[in-house]
Amino acid sequence: MHPADGIDQEKRLAAEAAALLVDDHMRVGLGTGSTVSHLLPVLAARRLDVVCVATSPTTAALARGLGLAVAPFDHLARLDIAIDGADQVAPDFWLIKGGGGAHTREKIVACAAERFVVIVSSDKLVDRLTGPVPLELLGFGLEATRRSIGSDAACKLRSAPPTPDGGVLADYTGEIEDPHALACRLAATAGVVEHGLFPPRLVSEVVVARQGQVEHLYPTSSPT
Ligand code: 5RP
Repeated sequence: MHPADGIDQEKRLAAEAAALLVDDHMRVGLGTGSTVSHLLPVLAARRLDVVCVATSPTTAALARGLGLAVAPFDHLARLDIAIDGADQVAPDFWLIKGGGGAHTREKIVACAAERFVVIVSSDKLVDRLTGPVPLELLGFGLEATRRSIGSDAACKLRSAPPTPDGGVLADYTGEIEDPHALACRLAATAGVVEHGLFPPRLVSEVVVARQGQVEHLYPTSSPT
């Protein structure tokens, strides 16, 4: 088997396991990415009475196409569960998300959820976060914001269309010595709409598949 097929199979297994965590009448947050794209058909096939909110137009279209009810995320204050992929998961459960550029909406949805479930293939488990860290920036003052973040090299603009919220996608490519300190610095930088560092306190569990087996990992303590 080609290694990429093995990874895709792991994504599918993790997604299938997470789909079983959804019950009737739940309000469900749907993430974005290839792992979530495995979740959607399995969730739809369960024919539960659920209302979903989607973190991207792509996810919304896929979910609706499968018959899932997708509501706008403006009047719902809380979600029962949110399920999403990740780019990297550190041993202390800090995450990097936003490879698909949806991290702002993904963080809002994760924060609103009673239970935030991260679904990953085994290659996403890393010894330490190495970046890049996705950023969404405001177009207004863009160069000034990049300068505040660091050098041009430390904040590379993506050649990607604006986000659905009009933001500019970029990546922080500097060192991640301390994720908490970097998250605070990025969050405090004017012009940064959101960054892709997700703290352990947001994470309820990580569902990871490795060579055909699914494991559920739980953060034991969440200092940040
Ligand atoms: C999108 C994300 C994705 O969850 C992350 O990039 C993982 O993607 P994939 O499931 O395709 O590996 O954060 O903004």
